[in-house]
Amino acid sequence: MKVAVVGATGLVGSEMLKVLAERNFPVTELIPVASERSKGKEIEFKGKNYKVVTPLEAIALKPNVALFSAGGETSKQYAPLFAAAGITVIDNSSAWRMDTTKKLVVPEVNGDVLTAEDKIISNPNCSTIQMVVILKPLHDKYKIKRVVVSTYQSVTGTGVKAVQQLQDERAGIVGEKAYPYEIDMNVIPHIDVFQENGYTKEEMKMIQETNKIMQDDSIRVTATTVRIPVVGGHSEAINIEFESDFDLAEVRELLAKQEGVIVVDNPANLEYPMPKDAHGKDEVLVGRIRRDESQDNTINMWVVADNLRKGAATNTVQIAEALNKKGLI
Ligand code: A2P
Repeated sequence: MKVAVVGATGLVGSEMLKVLAERNFPVTELIPVASERSKGKEIEFKGKNYKVVTPLEAIALKPNVALFSAGGETSKQYAPLFAAAGITVIDNSSAWRMDTTKKLVVPEVNGDVLTAEDKIISNPNCSTIQMVVILKPLHDKYKIKRVVVSTYQSVTGTGVKAVQQLQDERAGIVGEKAYPYEIDMNVIPHIDVFQENGYTKEEMKMIQETNKIMQDDSIRVTATTVRIPVVGGHSEAINIEFESDFDLAEVRELLAKQEGVIVVDNPANLEYPMPKDAHGKDEVLVGRIRRDESQDNTINMWVVADNLRKGAATNTVQIAEALNKKGLI
């Protein structure tokens, strides 16, 4: 299969190349795509070098599938052109996520919605993905009424410039800034742009995308999203209120059985998920599972995942795998 990776020189794009290779996705020819600036640059994939091309050149090469992670503007501009040429696009930007004509997919949660008509498929927001993987088996069993989530998000979610800002600050170098404030030795309660209602766009994504993926608008979600000086992954403190009571041991069992989830929850041995443990892994780690003693039918937990992996590259490749399995690409 000919596979184009649009944004192949970026953080998520290069992770996509790693994941494609590791999971042995049947790539016969790789087409690395980036901006005009990177044209001709060589990218190594499975021991072979490939030259970076521009989006228009990539369309002419007719890949079977194009994995996009080059920002919303690039997706808006080029994804429809790829689709019109019969190339299935899996897009990691927020450009099409809430478009009612496009699917928003986490394969183990709603992979069954994919059909032959889907030519542009959206990969959800990183913080949303790791949360819905946890919510799904619990919603199926106990029906979720409300979710209160606070995030602790890695700088890798912002891209190469943000990682550089953190490294520069640690080295005492004054360089280009990805954030309006220092990120080292700091916490910034602001991810993406502010909306009229006082929430950030990241917070609204977590609310709206959760309802869309879970196919249930009755789940009430509220979020506070925060950037922290960490590189390994995103962490989330999640408080979930169910319609009915639950059994703590059964919750652990349900989560342990869920595809792509690892329960790390042994406080006696100081075992709980941390971004350092999630880094480079495809799974979502969950721990600190405990009853919320302030309210009936409510539970607290701590969820960590590598935002460049399950939050982005891995989920995108898993969508491609699901399409391939159904014979849709
Ligand atoms: P380039 O390296 O040529 O700028 P990150 O989010 O990690 O900063 O990466 C962004 C990715 O999106 C890079 O691979 C970047 O390529 C790519 N990109 C940005 N603008 C365009 C564009 N107009 N067309 C194609 N790729 C783009």
